Amino acid sequence: MTRITIPELEAKKAVGEPIVMVTAYDFPGARAAERAGVDMVLVGDSGAQVVLGHDSTVSVTTDEMLVLAKAVRRGTEHAFIVCDVPFGSTEVSDAQAVETAIRFAKEAGADSVKLEGGSEARLSRIRAIVAAGIPVVGHIGLTPQTAVALGGLRAQGRTTASAERLVAEALGVQAAGAFCLVIEAVPAEITELLRSALRIPIIGIGAGRVDGQVLVLHDLLGITEGRTAKFVKRFGTVGDDMTAALSAYAAEVRAGEFPGTEHQYAASDEAVEAARA
Ligand code: KIV
Ligand code: NA
Repeated sequence: MTRITIPELEAKKAVGEPIVMVTAYDFPGARAAERAGVDMVLVGDSGAQVVLGHDSTVSVTTDEMLVLAKAVRRGTEHAFIVCDVPFGSTEVSDAQAVETAIRFAKEAGADSVKLEGGSEARLSRIRAIVAAGIPVVGHIGLTPQTAVALGGLRAQGRTTASAERLVAEALGVQAAGAFCLVIEAVPAEITELLRSALRIPIIGIGAGRVDGQVLVLHDLLGITEGRTAKFVKRFGTVGDDMTAALSAYAAEVRAGEFPGTEHQYAASDEAVEAARA
């Protein structure tokens, strides 16, 4: 099976076929996404929280993200791979951003990198990475890496100033050369306006029905504990299934029921005799 290409993703938008994207952080997650026929896999820095247990995405490093990205790469053959560049790995300069993007492409085999934000500095980073030959996905609206500056993890585009800013950022990201744009936590009416203004596919998360959707794997599987964002739908109860299987295992070990004879090796009588001696 060949890997999905950018023209194929653009063709989906052109014919109105929704693009399916999901995050993955390891080999089994990537395999499951692949078996499900997902179009794009995002090695999201949400992995900082959902698989590494950090409070936010800010603390994850490029080296850590690369470990996750390599495992995802090994687990996919068809899905287009997008890797988040973590906070701090592109902020300093265009040169730093290009070096980081090259690491993801070269060491992890990423098909593209995703950068948050649409300020002038961010557009400059996008231009530099695209000029280096690495496709870029933009990400505007709620941008978790700079959530503190946004005043918390809250929906964007709900006020006039915020909606105007989103329009400028969306157009800027497209003009800078991004081939795709993720929009997070923005009212559907606003996203629809952005969609009609843009040529590139828009992938939404909490942004209504746009050209495609993305969700965090552990959220949709039902592994994430506690309260999740309004836009999360749980499509499974995998977290409960994991706990149930582990509880059953613990109970059988404690009851002396596991391992049963079918899970034990047999030795020849001679071997047993020799070991006894
Ligand atoms: O890191 C992530 O999971 C993301 C998606 C929410 C778009 O950036
Ligand atoms: Na992210």
